[in-house]
Amino acid sequence: MKQFISVKDVTDIDALVKQALHYKANPFVDKALGANKRIGLLFLNPSLRTRLSTQVAAQNLGMEPIVFNVDKEGWALEFTEGAIMNGTTVEHIKDAAPILGNYFDILCIRTFPSLQNKEQDYSEKIIHQFIKYAGIPIVSLESATLHPLQSLTDIITIQESIALNEKLKNKQPKIVLTWAPHIKPIPQCVANSFSEWINAWGAANFVITHPEGYELAAQYTNGATIMYNQDEALKDADFVYVKNWSSYNEYGKVLCTDSNWMLTNTKLAATNNAKVMHCLPVRRNVELSDEILDGPNSLVTKEASNRVWAAQSVLAKILSSLS
Ligand code: CP
Repeated sequence: MKQFISVKDVTDIDALVKQALHYKANPFVDKALGANKRIGLLFLNPSLRTRLSTQVAAQNLGMEPIVFNVDKEGWALEFTEGAIMNGTTVEHIKDAAPILGNYFDILCIRTFPSLQNKEQDYSEKIIHQFIKYAGIPIVSLESATLHPLQSLTDIITIQESIALNEKLKNKQPKIVLTWAPHIKPIPQCVANSFSEWINAWGAANFVITHPEGYELAAQYTNGATIMYNQDEALKDADFVYVKNWSSYNEYGKVLCTDSNWMLTNTKLAATNNAKVMHCLPVRRNVELSDEILDGPNSLVTKEASNRVWAAQSVLAKILSSLS
């Protein structure tokens, strides 16, 4: 694997999940794989889980991770070709990225969308410029439109749950991605990525439910059933993935704040005793109720813990491809 920015970089999802679960059982089995290799983790935006789990994963593989909070500690980067840099930006990506490419063997980057300019965000301008100019493998720690390490983690967590539940072992699970309310505009990344990965995985009956106006980009959702009635969508679900996102069509706008979209135990009663997932951080009692988050059906802690094994399996695959 030469880069990890979407599911398209993965040839075999099940093999990657298997490797992740192997690392969960044997965290230090490949401690020698990353010896004398350096990994840089660049954050242009905040993070708790991605930052820490990727560091742990790198250390499990024998690498020394170096974290750089570009947004707070670095020079303001310019990404526009031919820019006359007489404004707030101080250093062009085409000057900075090749240097980072010399310092590190693998470069991981977190960047969020502007939610102002759809074309620019969906072109993944920032991460593609790192790919273009760094000259080393790039790993997305969440980009403008996708969050592939999160989605790999989500499939690992679903697979684990299926393996522990006799009733789910021999059936196609019903997975429902449901929109949830939020107080501010949130990127579509997690929902796009979850949809893309579940569709590519192909092992589930996949339903997406959201209010009208919250349709995601079809390139990610093609293959899923879209329903505007959440109660109907939740019927017989085995897994419910809860996430807010802002509108894609009316780009970055909050069109609905209806608290009835928040998942509660009453709504969960229509499901097949579904396990509930969320990538975190979560706004309690806005996006998701206390009773769900603190209840027996919540997978959120396990899901966040699995971030280590997802990152470790991806980094190992990239390390194996380095000459
Ligand atoms: N789920 C997730 O990516 O969490 P962080 O933003 O804390 O990294």
